[in-house]
Amino acid sequence: VSRAISVRHYCKKTTRKLRISEALLGSELGANVKVQGWVRSVRPQKTNLFFHVNDGSCLQSLQIVAGSDLDELLTFGSAVEVTGILKKSPHQKQPVELEAEQIHIIGECNPVDFPFKIKERHSLEYIRQFPHLRCRTNAFSSLLRIRSEATTAIHSYFKKNGFVQIHTPIITSNDCEGAGELFQVEPSGPDYDENENFFSVPAFLSVSGQLHLEVMSGAFSGVYTFGPTFRAENSQSRRHLAEFYMVEAEVSFTQSIEDLTKVMEDMFRSSTEHVLAHCAEDVNLFHKHVTPGHRVSLKDNNLTWAVDILNRSSQEFAFPTDWGCDLQTEHEKYLVKHCGNIPVFVTDYPYDLKPFYARDNQDSPEHTAAAVDLLVPGVGELCGGSLREERLDLLRARAGLEDTYSWYLDLRRFGSVPHGGFGLGFERYLQCILGVDNIKDVIPFPRFSHSCLL
Ligand code: 4AD
Repeated sequence: VSRAISVRHYCKKTTRKLRISEALLGSELGANVKVQGWVRSVRPQKTNLFFHVNDGSCLQSLQIVAGSDLDELLTFGSAVEVTGILKKSPHQKQPVELEAEQIHIIGECNPVDFPFKIKERHSLEYIRQFPHLRCRTNAFSSLLRIRSEATTAIHSYFKKNGFVQIHTPIITSNDCEGAGELFQVEPSGPDYDENENFFSVPAFLSVSGQLHLEVMSGAFSGVYTFGPTFRAENSQSRRHLAEFYMVEAEVSFTQSIEDLTKVMEDMFRSSTEHVLAHCAEDVNLFHKHVTPGHRVSLKDNNLTWAVDILNRSSQEFAFPTDWGCDLQTEHEKYLVKHCGNIPVFVTDYPYDLKPFYARDNQDSPEHTAAAVDLLVPGVGELCGGSLREERLDLLRARAGLEDTYSWYLDLRRFGSVPHGGFGLGFERYLQCILGVDNIKDVIPFPRFSHSCLL
């Protein structure tokens, strides 16, 4: 045992494997280290060859200094392993460089066929054509690091605030939103008899985990879920996907929309501050719409206020702006601009436009539901939420519930409490904080109508 320990100790001392982000910290100067990654630039000079290696751990690449006799295999995009001594770099931009002692080319990359060219700045539209290769670009790898950090930020917001995470099912028999944009799930394969119904009821990919969260809100005062959501929207728009990630929360013992908007605002602000603080370098590659200084508007904006603003505007809208019509993207974007390009809440939508679960504002002259949307710069609707109808008689009055949602009515029979919740489209959130125009550029593998690549 002691021999094994001493050998390991010896190896550790002689060559430490480092991620590039660790190497760049500069705390290992003089150490013999090994890094692995992909070549991002090659600059031959008279006596030396300089090249940069990136391993996805950060935006910056590590400069490697090597002898000039390297063969032609060291090209942009090739995978390498380099062992050498970490030294202080004479260049200001680059605090550390690696003086190579051994270079091993692990995977060659033919520069002629590789779709990305050295020193060229490719647009997000261009790199989108290569979903299997686009993570090799700086822009997309930054995006994926930001996405990962934003996921952590959202989970930690809920953890800090005492919410319990629930894994809501992906396969479900309910159509929460009632919009009919469902993907039906059927098994296939040689062992499956086409006439047999696997689940004995029609089953679909989930359009929202809300109803399952509502089940849990009968036992937990705060729950949330963060997972994939599916909508068969026949849309190629810049803000719709067939598979997207939704953050959904349900808050029990709440009777006011303000309680919900507070959670939405806090989550938005705390996640955004976290991302801006932890991914500053990556975020700087993008044009951001929202900075930590920006406050979410907390004005009590109801739909009547919104319709009034739209009707008084000189802008011509393609869709009607009458009370009772749904707000369209063009309206949402206008309202955000009108409020000074800050996130803004709009509450109290027509009751008839909202799904069965939305709470009836019975005393409202226009018959509204206690629903709220959060509209944000660059995107429009980011979150949709509502108080849920907890009164059994009012729920019953909504057609069809007795047959299909008897279990949902049960929730109101046994220890029911006033509650409400919301869903935030995670990709739209990223679009908003980074100013990315197309939703397909903020998800690793976009799925939309007529496109399911890879
Ligand atoms: O407004 P939605 O449909 O609300 C619900 O599904 C509620 N059941 C959520 C809840 O209260 N728990 O969707 C919520 C958000 C939207 O505001 C939007 O940001 C995003 O999900 N979203 C989409 N994002 C990308 N592609 C799509 N096709 C989307 N549909 C909705």
